[in-house]
Amino acid sequence: MTSAEAKKRIDALSEQIDYHNDLYYQKNVSEITDYEFDKLLEQLIALENEFPELKSEDSPTQRVGGTITKEFETVVHKYRMLSLGNTYSQEELLDFDGRVAKGLEGQEYEYLCELKFDGVALSLTYENGVLKRAVTRGDGTQGDDITTNARTIRTIPLKLKGDVPAEFEVRGEAFFPIKEFERVNAEREDIGEDRLANPRNAASGTLKMQDSKVVAHRKLDCYLYYLLGEDLNVENHSDAVQAIADWGFNVSPTYLRCKDIHAVLDYIKSWEEKRHDLPVETDGIVIKVNSLSQQEQLGFTAKNPRWAIAYKYKAESATTVLESISYQVGRTGAITPVANLSPVLLAGTTVKRASLHNANEIARLDLRIGDTVHVEKGGEIIPKVTAVDLNLRQVDSSPVNYIEFCPECDTKLEQKEGEANHYCTNTEGCPPQILGRLEHFIQRKAMNIDSLGPETLRGLLDNGLIRNYADLYDLTFEQLNGLEFRIYSDKKGDYSVRSLREKSATNIYKAIQDSKAVPFERLLFGLGIRFVGKTVAEKLANHFITVEALGQATYDQLIEVPEIGDRIAESVVEFFSDPKNTSLIDRLTQAGLQLAMEKKEQIIEGNNLTDKTFVISGVFTQFSRDELKEKIKANGGKVVSSISGKLDYLLAGDKMGPSKLEKANKLGTNIISEQDFLDMIAS
Ligand code: IVH
Repeated sequence: MTSAEAKKRIDALSEQIDYHNDLYYQKNVSEITDYEFDKLLEQLIALENEFPELKSEDSPTQRVGGTITKEFETVVHKYRMLSLGNTYSQEELLDFDGRVAKGLEGQEYEYLCELKFDGVALSLTYENGVLKRAVTRGDGTQGDDITTNARTIRTIPLKLKGDVPAEFEVRGEAFFPIKEFERVNAEREDIGEDRLANPRNAASGTLKMQDSKVVAHRKLDCYLYYLLGEDLNVENHSDAVQAIADWGFNVSPTYLRCKDIHAVLDYIKSWEEKRHDLPVETDGIVIKVNSLSQQEQLGFTAKNPRWAIAYKYKAESATTVLESISYQVGRTGAITPVANLSPVLLAGTTVKRASLHNANEIARLDLRIGDTVHVEKGGEIIPKVTAVDLNLRQVDSSPVNYIEFCPECDTKLEQKEGEANHYCTNTEGCPPQILGRLEHFIQRKAMNIDSLGPETLRGLLDNGLIRNYADLYDLTFEQLNGLEFRIYSDKKGDYSVRSLREKSATNIYKAIQDSKAVPFERLLFGLGIRFVGKTVAEKLANHFITVEALGQATYDQLIEVPEIGDRIAESVVEFFSDPKNTSLIDRLTQAGLQLAMEKKEQIIEGNNLTDKTFVISGVFTQFSRDELKEKIKANGGKVVSSISGKLDYLLAGDKMGPSKLEKANKLGTNIISEQDFLDMIAS
């Protein structure tokens, strides 16, 4: 290729990419798939590498890599987002105070202290009391516009009440509340997904997700602590914090005015332990000169303000000895190795166990039994082994041989390609898997039979009364009443015997019978299909309406459902192709459980659409897809799932898949907008 030809091609590619970028960002439409887009970009990168002299400053390739993501627009910060200098030592804090005193030349001054929240820095812009933009820190000069995701954070007001400045920026830290982080992880483990590593990374990953619905589901939170703008009418940082709290922002109540650096040291000490009781991860204290005019006097260095500093607590860690490793088997058969440690005090609690995640983690740490290890407590409740003290390693130690057979049922373990976990595949015969599936089924979010506690459940299993969830519905009151079962203690082999009293038996029996009325979507979640969590179960139930339709759905039909991806589709197909599962479902149907969505009373609005068929695709502005579905039915029409020659209308919203559009065009299907549709039913 000559340079002239290359130039022509580069110009054409750049134009094409810019066009698609503009469509995507400004109009929310994709005419090509992400894959096709990436291919165009790759071609351009390759050409620019071959002809570097042809690379222009505004080439679309300048936007890829580093901090700039394809999905979010880059925004230049009006005021740079600086970071803070930080220190771990009190001497350095006294030095900081010395510099402040010198800079202020004998004036009196005070500090404002706050906890340092470990999350993702955000800058929010409000105009006339309305949230206009939420931008991440990025490189401090420019960040990503993540407004759609920030809007899902409930404590970020979308509209402010009362008398607020016409324009201002407010900055703070978006974070994953620790409880919420545990909840999401429990949910992920429950459906066989990997755990999120820690709250900070998880918050940052969440804010960069494309699907704001997933973001909303994660219930992030945000503390605001910094107000910026002109003519704000505040004198001190503490006034600003008070003002933003008054305007309806979420402000952590931990801030305190400190009259001098000694009061600051007291503040630091007072939070050293207490900070673990806060709902958010913290890693230190931020110390700021309170007066804004004094802040201005002190100014900035190239990187940091001279009027503030962060004091960081040392990560809490302890050393102890790895005594042994045990292996737990989860509901999905996933094996989790757990370190058994010599008890050691860490951040106020005695630690005896730590999670080791999987075989890779053990190999990465090169763990050996008898090793002296460092354990740390991060955002997770369960502490982590972070490193081995090699100086203290015993000479005769040897690497851990990861188990090859299931510790519970002795089945050979398998590792699926691309997955870190080992699995026991004996789904039918491995006791913790059977028990896990039953526990999942009876939980409150599913069938709500939780009067049946884990011990009784185990008792029913041990007595051979149940082996799967369908067996629950064959239980009689007589079988339950007076049932004797063993309760095992922690010590191997130790147990006591209990018998089920009439009252408990009655409650359990009633809860089982009542659960027959639990709606289909909750039952579907309870079935424990891998990757089918609560939200996914709702989507599938609403789309397919009956278990038969879901069971017959092909992979292609499944991934056509909005938000149902590859993994879920494969897992659903696999589940329903196993005759053991379908026969369980038959038994549940026989027992009278809800295996279809309840028929809603059909409202009739008109008959303009009598006998007309519709496919709904994309995102709409006035109604949700479900509401449109209802409207079609209420006006005599029918909703179908795939485009064919017989189809009357394709009701098209934003972000419709290109393949659908292509097919409809090829078949000459009538493509109508949301407004066309509303006009049709109104006429
Ligand atoms: S004040 C000029 N206050 O720590 C900077 N920052 O390393 C003013 N942070 O980028 C920042 N908690 O993301 C401030 N209470 C707090 C904070 C806090 C966490 C973060 C923030 C900042 C980083 C500085």
